Amino acid sequence: MTQEDLFKNLIAHTKEYGFIFPSSEIYDGLGAVYDYGQLGSELKNNIKRYWWEAMVRLNENIVGIDSAIFMHPKIWEASGHVGAFNDPLIDNKDSKKRYRADVLLEDYIAKLEEKIHKEVEKGKKKFGDGFNREQFLATNPNVLRNAAKIQSVKERMTAALKANDLAALKQLILDCEITCPVSGSRNWTDVRQFNLMFSTQLGNISDESGIIYLRPETAQGIFVNFLNVQKTGRMKIPFGIAQIGKAFRNEIVARQFIFRMREFEQMEMQFFVRPGEELDWFKKWKEIRLKWHEALGLGKEKYRYHDHEKLAHYANAATDIEFEFPFGFKELEGIHSRTDFDLKRHQEYSGRKIQYFDPETNESYIPYVIETSIGLDRTVLAVLSGAYREEKLDNGEERTVLKIHPALAPVKLAVLPLVKKDGLPQMAREILETLKYDFNCQYDEKDSIGKRYRRQDAIGTPLCITIDHQSLEDGCVTLRDRDSMLQERVPVGELPQMVESRVSMKNLLKQVK
Ligand code: GAP
Repeated sequence: MTQEDLFKNLIAHTKEYGFIFPSSEIYDGLGAVYDYGQLGSELKNNIKRYWWEAMVRLNENIVGIDSAIFMHPKIWEASGHVGAFNDPLIDNKDSKKRYRADVLLEDYIAKLEEKIHKEVEKGKKKFGDGFNREQFLATNPNVLRNAAKIQSVKERMTAALKANDLAALKQLILDCEITCPVSGSRNWTDVRQFNLMFSTQLGNISDESGIIYLRPETAQGIFVNFLNVQKTGRMKIPFGIAQIGKAFRNEIVARQFIFRMREFEQMEMQFFVRPGEELDWFKKWKEIRLKWHEALGLGKEKYRYHDHEKLAHYANAATDIEFEFPFGFKELEGIHSRTDFDLKRHQEYSGRKIQYFDPETNESYIPYVIETSIGLDRTVLAVLSGAYREEKLDNGEERTVLKIHPALAPVKLAVLPLVKKDGLPQMAREILETLKYDFNCQYDEKDSIGKRYRRQDAIGTPLCITIDHQSLEDGCVTLRDRDSMLQERVPVGELPQMVESRVSMKNLLKQVK
């Protein structure tokens, strides 16, 4: 099955089992906006908890806040979002469809990469065991031609974006002979910049002065509260402020499911450090954050760093942690060394002194900042796509299973009486009663036990317990593991401890500390 088909199946699966629904579906949906269903919200809450506890609870020098979505409009002038939070857009004159110029080019690059991939697969088949991948990539003429094209397009695109040269971007699209996916024509307009912020009107002020924005990132809520938190929390540098919350961007390219949304959630942390020490901290946070991702067990090879060549004017280092989504490696988290840009701008625009007195050096200064910024929805997508499997079993049956890390799984345990009579449901309910305070459990007595196991596999429940007639006599139940499908008999009294040791967040957190 191709990655594309697998991705389609995953999207259908998340809807069928109550993870993610298109927003406003009964009104035919709203582009790039999604709702989380009963299981999706459990998963999302577990991811939030994993991030929050790894950041705030385990680090004495990091605290968390929850700032408002609406903020003073001047904040977005100070941050640069009013002037420069833009995407370069191009319209096709025939289809009237609008695209992001850089995304059209990235798609073109992805097609060339796919050609290389196909050529490699052909080579593998042709040469069998004697196939040498490195040698093949270094010598095959088709591969070399496409690799050179990719290199050239990337270089020209980076240079055009860096110089904000919109004419050069358009020329590159024309030179690559990129056509509109809808009309198939190359009848393009010029490339123009388009601001991504959503605006609305404050109270009863109807003119320009009442314009207020939905925040496009949560970070500014942290910057403008720097002094509040530092003073009231008696925080000493280095220290961090973390926040989880909604952000809004009027994205033009609305696709790839929950990868690029118009309303999404971010988990951001600003770490305030002494000027001059920022690059050491940047390196440390890069490592810490990768470890956090890798602990989820989706495979280390699924992650990579992408260091930015083109740095924003306020940054002196930046990297993305990319994840291999079904549509290729894409940004999951950004780690930026943002210098003192934001605090300095807020000092300038607000007229308030935003400085820190360092008791160790006896100096006052504007701290430098390392930011870690991860998309919560993208993490949900990474977890789901990394965990989704369509398996053929030894007995010829098939199952769809979500091998989500047990600590993140929406339901931890299913309690299943083998039959709906003979006192088995009563015993099952008694067990549920003792476990439900610690674990999110499901009770299910409908259909055959095999079907019930499949239903739990499909939603990623790590453990099932089955209560049978023997349980009434010996007080033991069958504990079944989702991944190995192995079953063991365990005394009911040992269940709380056994379940805890398999699904606890503590075990996961210990890996990142
Ligand atoms: N404060 C820095 C900042 O906002 P960003 O790279 O624009 O940086 C950070 O966003 C993270 O937010 C990204 O790595 C991504 O995971 C997530 N993100 C950004 N735009 C998104 C969108 N339209 N839909 C879903 N997630 C998004």
